[in-house]
Amino acid sequence: MPENAAGKRRKTPPKKISELLKKSLHTIVFNGRLLYLCLMFYYYGRKKQIAKHYPCPNFDTIVEPFAGSAAYSLYQDNWKKNVILIEKDPKVASIWEWLINKATINEIKNLPDLKVGEKSSEFLHIVHAATKMAFHFKTIKVTPVLERNWEISRRVFAENLHKIKHWQIFNSDYSTAPDIEATWFIDPPYKGEPGLGYKFSSKMLDYNSLAEWALNRKGEIIFCEGEHGDYLPFKQLLELKGVAGKSSKEMIFYKTPIKPKQTKLFADLIDI
Ligand SMILES: C[S@@+](CC[C@H](N)C(=O)[O-])C[C@H]1O[C@@H](n2cnc3c(N)ncnc32)[C@H](O)[C@@H]1O
Repeated sequence: MPENAAGKRRKTPPKKISELLKKSLHTIVFNGRLLYLCLMFYYYGRKKQIAKHYPCPNFDTIVEPFAGSAAYSLYQDNWKKNVILIEKDPKVASIWEWLINKATINEIKNLPDLKVGEKSSEFLHIVHAATKMAFHFKTIKVTPVLERNWEISRRVFAENLHKIKHWQIFNSDYSTAPDIEATWFIDPPYKGEPGLGYKFSSKMLDYNSLAEWALNRKGEIIFCEGEHGDYLPFKQLLELKGVAGKSSKEMIFYKTPIKPKQTKLFADLIDI
């Protein structure tokens, strides 16, 4: 451990998160393309609170072609499967790259606290701001919500790090996902206004092509949408109560060749 002028031991100052992320970003060749190879973090549109309402995976591999924070793959024992994440936003993908391939528990524990009132331009902080506009901010002022979300997330990173070390992430478009038999958890930016916040937003997606692609996957598909989803025969999964009496509908399109016990629960949702 380095010493200061008084000869006392001092802690090595924690590295800036962006340095850690940059160091961990490398390229690989996948499907003939050069890609950045790249959870557990706060994320707008994440499925953490409602993951329990989705069908369990029936295949050994889970692919999340719109990864975000990949809450479905982390839910209960799902993380033990072969998990393949695809995420188009390089900033989000680089968080995964760091967590999967580089981060250690000590490094995470040494990440500095955030204090209300200070500013940060680290994307990993910005994404914890609990607003869909976060994707458009370059710098953010730390609010009490952000300070708390960050504190919780650091703990969650450290506690769950072991679960994701065998996962893979690709910084790419969903359509480049490997053509394999799997449980496909497809959670794109929702069509229309709800999906506008992301850097790669609903405005940039051709939903009819996405539907055609999804129907051609091998294995099973669990496809999430909001109430504007009209390009597949979605069924209502849940109605979520929001603030000020507002509510939103979570829709699902579920197609599986398997008829296990648990699909009884989802019998009304399955598209045959
Ligand atoms: C609704 S969020 C996914 C949330 C995720 N299920 C979770 O639990 O956090 C959609 C994600 O898809 C990403 N995305 C948007 N367009 C994409 C594309 N064409 N290919 C791959 N990822 C894309 C966005 O950056 C965003 O992270």
